[in-house]
Amino acid sequence: MANRRKLAAGNWKMNGTAAALSEVQALLAAHPAPGCDVLLCPPATLVHRMAEAAKGGALSVGGQDCHAATSGAHTGDIAADMLADAGASHVITGHSERRTDHGETDEMVRAKTQAAHDAGLIAVVCIGETLDQREAGETLAICAAQLTGSLPDTASAANTVVAYEPVWAIGTGKVPTLDQIGEVHGFLRAELEKRFGDNGTSMRLLYGGSVKAANAAEIFAVPDVDGALVGGASLKAADFSGIISALEKA
Ligand code: PGA
Repeated sequence: MANRRKLAAGNWKMNGTAAALSEVQALLAAHPAPGCDVLLCPPATLVHRMAEAAKGGALSVGGQDCHAATSGAHTGDIAADMLADAGASHVITGHSERRTDHGETDEMVRAKTQAAHDAGLIAVVCIGETLDQREAGETLAICAAQLTGSLPDTASAANTVVAYEPVWAIGTGKVPTLDQIGEVHGFLRAELEKRFGDNGTSMRLLYGGSVKAANAAEIFAVPDVDGALVGGASLKAADFSGIISALEKA
């Protein structure tokens, strides 16, 4: 059994202005030395200020997306090394909202993940099936294809975290059964080991989709769940703190 340090990751999505940084202070005060890694991914406008606020504390800051290129004529986009320069250590790639809203394909996600690695960032690579795909019995095939397509060969346990996020569970309050989560995570672990060997054993696998303090402990008890990627319940320190505490005890 690999020694994988657990990770509680928050994705603020398109939420938060400077006033929300008080949540970071509250979180740092509640968890001065957490028994797991803690990451917050605010909107790009807050990355630098959050990184400054978290300096010296046990909280990492990440972006929510990056461009595959290092620079150029890409209005509105942000390069991975710009995120690193702003104080980020991580970046989410391939979130289902990016795949849906911006038509991101596995190939694009793979290029963005590669760019993150090249910039020295840890990529949190998201995959997951839609409800139609689950009902058609395609969950494992879809996840396998997304995993293969979205991870570059440079992926290692040190620079990559995989987040399994069923699209139908994101922001809906619907959560797969623990057996369903266990089935996908066990399958993904085997796929990662096939391709990356020991790195596949050590790579962290997060579950994401309607995680909250009330259901966190049971989800974290599922084998091969190494933490969570949390949307709505990461916005308020009081909510996210309950999830961090559950992970510390897992
Ligand atoms: P949710 O979002 O926790 O609000 O369901 C999860 C995510 O999109 O990462």
